Amino acid sequence: MRHGIICIIVLPEGFLIKSHARFFHYRLFISFISKILFYDTIKRYNYLDMRIKERVKALIRLNSTPREIALRGSMADMAENNDVVIRKFSAKDRVQVRRISCETAFLGAGHDCFCDDEEVLADALTLYFTDYEPESGFVAVSGEGVVGYLIGARDTARMEKIVNSKIVPGLIGKIFRKGLLRRQVNRTFLAHLLLSIFRGEFFAPDVNRQYPAILHINIDAQYRGLHIGTRLIERYVELLREQNIKGVHCGTMSDAAKEFFRKQGFSVLSTGRRTYLRYCLGKIVPFYLLGKRL
Ligand SMILES: CC(C)(COP(=O)(O)OP(=O)(O)OC[C@H]1O[C@@H](n2cnc3c(N)ncnc32)[C@H](O)[C@@H]1OP(=O)(O)O)[C@@H](O)C(=O)NCCC(=O)NCCS
Repeated sequence: MRHGIICIIVLPEGFLIKSHARFFHYRLFISFISKILFYDTIKRYNYLDMRIKERVKALIRLNSTPREIALRGSMADMAENNDVVIRKFSAKDRVQVRRISCETAFLGAGHDCFCDDEEVLADALTLYFTDYEPESGFVAVSGEGVVGYLIGARDTARMEKIVNSKIVPGLIGKIFRKGLLRRQVNRTFLAHLLLSIFRGEFFAPDVNRQYPAILHINIDAQYRGLHIGTRLIERYVELLREQNIKGVHCGTMSDAAKEFFRKQGFSVLSTGRRTYLRYCLGKIVPFYLLGKRL
């Protein structure tokens, strides 16, 4: 039981849990039991320091708005005039990609609110892409180093097999070895995430046949709105087309990111909602599954 629970937690957002009819029948029962088991932890959310909540909200506001992006139009020209170069990911970029993944893990902002261990978080978000399929990744590099990345998998089904057989067991080991669950911030997140899962919020259509590839993209906050994201997507799409891959998909909880993907020719394949961040954000966030045929 415990292992089953942890397996689900460490899966990054993009790894959608597929429908399973029998599981669906037991969903309400499990939800009820988990509410009892985690009652204490969930209750503590009420005692979270308001300052932390305010800080998180301020961080979210850092996300680029279209107006901010317009104001930074001239910077975009600068970025395209070779100040920021897009190139293939290589092993030496791994540390910086992991850093950005942690700094942008929470709807484009930091992760302090829900996880206090960067190694585990970065493993969950990037390990497959950087260590098992580095050839599908790209980075944006300025004078300061890596300022953005797009990491991907050309075959999501293969990725899921490796994640389940190799990455998840390793993560479970790390979670216990490092005693993550002894700390309240991680337990609170876990409790909310489990409730979200048991409510069925992670059920989504299986789009792997029509859109076999997947991507995960993030840009450092101060480099957003400079068309770096667009250039990274273009390079990845080019690579997928060369290899005759029929489609690519991704998931996001950000309305801003959804608009960005629509501009890149993606359409919304399904929409849902995620309640597990409500204790940090004070609101339920949407979830969009987006896809682009190539
Ligand atoms: C979403 C993200 C990858 C976009 O990359 P970017 O380099 O900032 O985006 P671009 O400058 O290439 O924008 C391309 C287009 O999308 C639009 N766009 C970008 N961010 C937007 C936003 N926040 N709201 C609305 N539209 C937006 C731009 O207006 C631009 O349109 P234009 O071509 O007409 O000028 C980047 O902002 C980011 O990393 N955000 C935080 C993390 C995140 O949400 N990641 C995606 C989760 S999978």
